[in-house]
Amino acid sequence: MNVSVIGAGTMGNGIAHVFAQNGYKVNLIDVSEAALEKAIATITRNLDRQVSKGSITEDIKQSTLQNISSHSSLGAISHSQLVVEAATENEAIKLSIFKQLDEIAPEGCILASNTSSISITKIAAVTSRPELVIGMHFMNPVPVMKLVEIINGYATDSKVTATITELSKKLGKVPCVVNDYPGFIANRILMPMINEAIYSLYEGVAGVEEIDTVMKLGMAHPMGPLQLADFIGLDVCLSILQVLHDGFGNPKYAPCPLLVNMVTARKLGVKSGEGFYVYTAGSKDLVVSPRFRK
Ligand code: CAA
Repeated sequence: MNVSVIGAGTMGNGIAHVFAQNGYKVNLIDVSEAALEKAIATITRNLDRQVSKGSITEDIKQSTLQNISSHSSLGAISHSQLVVEAATENEAIKLSIFKQLDEIAPEGCILASNTSSISITKIAAVTSRPELVIGMHFMNPVPVMKLVEIINGYATDSKVTATITELSKKLGKVPCVVNDYPGFIANRILMPMINEAIYSLYEGVAGVEEIDTVMKLGMAHPMGPLQLADFIGLDVCLSILQVLHDGFGNPKYAPCPLLVNMVTARKLGVKSGEGFYVYTAGSKDLVVSPRFRK
């Protein structure tokens, strides 16, 4: 099976890595040559880490890299049986990409989106093949996280769901099939928890470290909700909460004003160097942002 991955950012490079490591030929496509170069460097670094930990051999590393080819135009999808879109999480951009994918992709090609919250039914509706459109939601870091949340759009054919379920297993992942309602399952449950953690900080119930420590040590979460929000990106958390709020019309999903302020101030978490914590390149230490120190 020939697979194309659209978008060479964090999710796109992880998805390309996992397909290629499992023997699939992958076209990694991005409009930016710089993003493609950065993605190959990231994949190489992550493969090196896997080799040094003994989880893969040097030969697998080499074959994985050989399975990936970089392209800056969508024309590369013309021989693919599956396209996985992992472009920017912006509805207008995704709808425009799917219109183009539908025009270029061969007949029968499945068009999957890695969207974390945009409606699969809406994305499918801009194509002439809604029955072949499905959500394939990987989690970050893709090579490590076992889950693939598979989202059936209103018109998704059950044969397509079965194909993507089997394929996810072949990637060493655990698929979970859910239906297309705001936030699906992962973010419908995760984002209200993160929002509640931010509300707890905003209302002065506890500090950043206390909130994260309670959830890490009390509930065995690998990261506390505030650290996880920084890791996901505060802008992404805000936009998903807005999708939940708009989609359900329920005030319980209203984003915390502190989250809104932080995004407006461009304090976006790891990617901007500051969120609830501050991040310095090369350091793994968790340092609370001066803004939230007591
Ligand atoms: N590629 C390959 N391997 C990687 C990696 C990467 N990008 N990042 C980490 N690893 C591997 C490490 O090599 C290590 O492997 P071993 O267990 O074999 O030694 C393992 O993962 C753990 O890594 P570290 O020891 O460096 O660090 P850690 O123990 O702190 O784990 C973490 C890091 C896996 C990210 C962990 O903190 C974690 O699970 N955090 C929560 C992640 C999470 O919740 N992700 C979902 C976010 S939500 C989302 O993605 C979807 C959405 O819609 C918003």
